[in-house]
Amino acid sequence: MSQDLADIVTERLILRPPVPEDAYVFNRELAKFEISSNLARVPHPYRLMSVEDWWHFNWDRKFPAEGIWRVICRRDDANRSCIGNFAIQPDIRPGAESLWSAGYWMAEEAWGQGYMTEALAGGLTFVRETWDPEKIVAGAFTDNPASRRVLEKNGFVMTHETTEWSEARQTKVPHWNFELVR
Ligand SMILES: CC(C)(COP(=O)(O)OP(=O)(O)OC[C@H]1O[C@@H](n2cnc3c(N)ncnc32)[C@H](O)[C@@H]1OP(=O)(O)O)[C@@H](O)C(=O)NCCC(=O)NCCS
Repeated sequence: MSQDLADIVTERLILRPPVPEDAYVFNRELAKFEISSNLARVPHPYRLMSVEDWWHFNWDRKFPAEGIWRVICRRDDANRSCIGNFAIQPDIRPGAESLWSAGYWMAEEAWGQGYMTEALAGGLTFVRETWDPEKIVAGAFTDNPASRRVLEKNGFVMTHETTEWSEARQTKVPHWNFELVR
């Protein structure tokens, strides 16, 4: 694990590195179709993972040498409980490392308070100051206008529409593709 693991602090949030115990919140939230149906690769029903399995599953995938994966917490929460997470990272597939992408979800109880917009903004500033990738891509299914807003409020521009497989829905779904160019 060699990526930068500093906390990132924004106006209302602390964006901290994940810990194994975050598995409980991931299990709880990813089991909800309202969350998994908006993500590409999470199945429904969700397969609950032990803390240990979850940590090992994510270790290689989410801790490449560059980029960040952070859990979102409220600054006024002394327990630093996970209310969501995001990753802004280069593709881990060999040969695709120059392709940076952003992905995220927020726990349902915390929706609609501007938290994901604020978290992504903090993460993007950190990534720009640390690695300054030329381009970062992101996307959302076309029935997810909230995610589109989060991206647009952070300067992402829609480039084209595709259809992408949704593991939870078990079908291809129309999808907006966005990019943020340096
Ligand atoms: C998408 C998601 C991350 C948004 O998190 P959030 O913390 O509620 O987002 P924010 O509050 O920062 O911003 C949401 C924006 O969408 C807008 N919005 C919400 N529902 C909307 C709708 N049905 N139509 C249009 N805009 C909508 C909000 O008004 C807000 O925009 P505004 O600040 O201009 O008013 C969260 O709903 C989520 O995790 N959903 C499930 C997983 C997911 O979709 N992940 C992203 C995959 S691409």
